[in-house]
Amino acid sequence: MILGAKNLTLSYESSIIVPQLNLFIKPQEVVTFIGPNGSGKSTILKALARFLKAKNGVVYLNGQDIQTLSTKQVAQKLAILPQTPQAPADLTVLELVSRGRAPHLKWWQRSSSHDYEVINWALTETKTMKLADRLVGTLSGGERQRAWIAMALAQSPEILLLDEPTTYLDICHQLEIMELVTKLNQELGLTVVMVLHDINQAARYSHRLIALKKGQIVAQGSPQQILTAELLADVFRVKAIVKSDPESGNPVCLPYGIAESCSECLS
Ligand SMILES: Nc1ncnc2c1ncn2[C@@H]1O[C@H](COP(=O)(O)OP(=O)(O)O)[C@@H](O)[C@H]1O
Ligand SMILES: [Mg+2]
Repeated sequence: MILGAKNLTLSYESSIIVPQLNLFIKPQEVVTFIGPNGSGKSTILKALARFLKAKNGVVYLNGQDIQTLSTKQVAQKLAILPQTPQAPADLTVLELVSRGRAPHLKWWQRSSSHDYEVINWALTETKTMKLADRLVGTLSGGERQRAWIAMALAQSPEILLLDEPTTYLDICHQLEIMELVTKLNQELGLTVVMVLHDINQAARYSHRLIALKKGQIVAQGSPQQILTAELLADVFRVKAIVKSDPESGNPVCLPYGIAESCSECLS
């Protein structure tokens, strides 16, 4: 287990969002959380990155309680792309991506040629090299998203947490990000934990899906194992046809209506 949670309870002030979550992420796994808005996906990712302190329970990073590690130790192992990342608007893309190297530098050290190599690699892989001198505040949504992914990659993490990494992207750029995730996983052995809204992309690019409802795991397993019409009705409250993609064998979902049980989502 490279990343995990035991009896993790997460709350904002007094309201409990995630009760007693248990999670085991294996090295080099690609795991995707799916679930409706407000089901706690971002909250879980924030807690796994220690952006959010648990009310109860423990997050384990490489077998150690994440609370016992320094910020630098966490950042050397794990990078996160939050759902709505914030950066000073007067930062260039190159400056943003260079910040990814910070966990690997001692305070007196200047960037080495290795640091520049990693930054160049991150810019190249995310196709942001030509944006290097642009201010982050002037980028389109898709360009900004790719710049943030470049920063996360510059961290040279073993684990990448991505919260809706394809939001704002057109379909071609969405697939480019998903193909990049696959490449990083297959070639560098990166462990990836992400949140995706597109169930078909989640099914295509993940080893394991975890379906969440009200902060609780309803089902988890390979896309073939868990993606059924019943699960989609239960978790997303939609009627859907589930077929098998003739090319990959992965399930493909075609939602066509609101499930009967959805009276509360119309209110
Ligand atoms: N900073 C916050 N303060 C209070 N409540 C929050 C905060 N962030 C999220 N929530 C609430 O926690 C629940 C889960 O949110 P979130 O984890 O963002 O869901 P998801 O990512 O699945 O859409 C929602 O009800 C949301 O309103
Ligand atoms: Mg979210």
